[in-house]
Amino acid sequence: MSRPFDAAPALARKVFPSGDRRETVIARELYRTGSLRGDFERLASPAVPMADADILSFLLKYFHACLYPGSQDHAVPLGEISDLLAQFYELWPGGDTTGKVLPLAGEYSAYPLRMLTDLPRTAHIFRSVANRPLPPDMVQDPFLGLDLGTGSGIILAAAWFQAKRNGVAVTQLYGVELDTEIGGRTADLFASLGIGEMRIADARDPALYAGLPDGPVAFVGNENVPAPTSRHTAEPFSMIHAALFTALSQRLKKTVFFPEALVVRDREAELDVVLSKNNRFQVPRHYRSLRPKPRSIVIEGRLTKLWQVGKDFRGHIPESWLAVMPGRW
Ligand SMILES: C[S@@+](CC[C@H](N)C(=O)[O-])C[C@H]1O[C@@H](n2cnc3c(N)ncnc32)[C@H](O)[C@@H]1O
Repeated sequence: MSRPFDAAPALARKVFPSGDRRETVIARELYRTGSLRGDFERLASPAVPMADADILSFLLKYFHACLYPGSQDHAVPLGEISDLLAQFYELWPGGDTTGKVLPLAGEYSAYPLRMLTDLPRTAHIFRSVANRPLPPDMVQDPFLGLDLGTGSGIILAAAWFQAKRNGVAVTQLYGVELDTEIGGRTADLFASLGIGEMRIADARDPALYAGLPDGPVAFVGNENVPAPTSRHTAEPFSMIHAALFTALSQRLKKTVFFPEALVVRDREAELDVVLSKNNRFQVPRHYRSLRPKPRSIVIEGRLTKLWQVGKDFRGHIPESWLAVMPGRW
């Protein structure tokens, strides 16, 4: 199994010594103090606006619950989460991801958690999924949603909000994860919050999809997008979509995908290829000799370069924190 970020260059980053840091990761006045479970209940209502502060607070509490199962049920102070986050960021580059310093769900879980804790980008992705308005004919009850390569589960959590905030009563959400340890911890969190179920399986295996409930698929997340410096095939994004479409093509007609599209570019050939549901997210056969790299995604209906994802949220996070954030791409 490839490790998502092995291919990404190790950035020279400033690591701030503990004690030298006075600021919390977001301003105290932005932080919503209730429990994560309380946030799920409060923000499920379409009448409650989901502001930037709600999203960032939610992500921070979600991160805490990924490290400390059970913390979803009580308030966790922002200072405590900020300290944990600082320790987590110090794992890159080259730190100890064996879980000895922090209670990680196995060594590998550090990688999906690194995606979760890329706060500006995750907040943007979360907003795009959770707040997506659906036309009435796409509000399906039950709402069947899948996240293929689930890691921490944050995208499936966002899909739960998409369903609830569009008025769905019954959700059937399934995450698929190859890694047993992170998958197991996410399964427990989902079960505790009533979000959905996990399948520990290879999402590239078409047989996996036969075990899911019948009916149209409302949502599919597949965030196996490599860094813009890596070839698009460095992650199984297209392979997973190939399996999904092989198994369920007739049930994907109205599906909302995250990302809606991925644009890959071959610089030498000066060619951009749009991977979307129109081509089952596959590079067309006649371009297969090319070596395209990811460049942009369509998010909230806009074509957005990968490095620009999260731009709106960067202003909420102090420079000293942005400088030490390892990021996802
Ligand atoms: C790039 S991370 C995305 C994580 C998730 N969106 C998050 O924020 O936590 C990809 C996840 O997909 C999992 N994965 C990679 N290939 C997979 C496959 N073929 N089937 C199932 N899971 C896979 C990895 O183990 C990893 O947890």
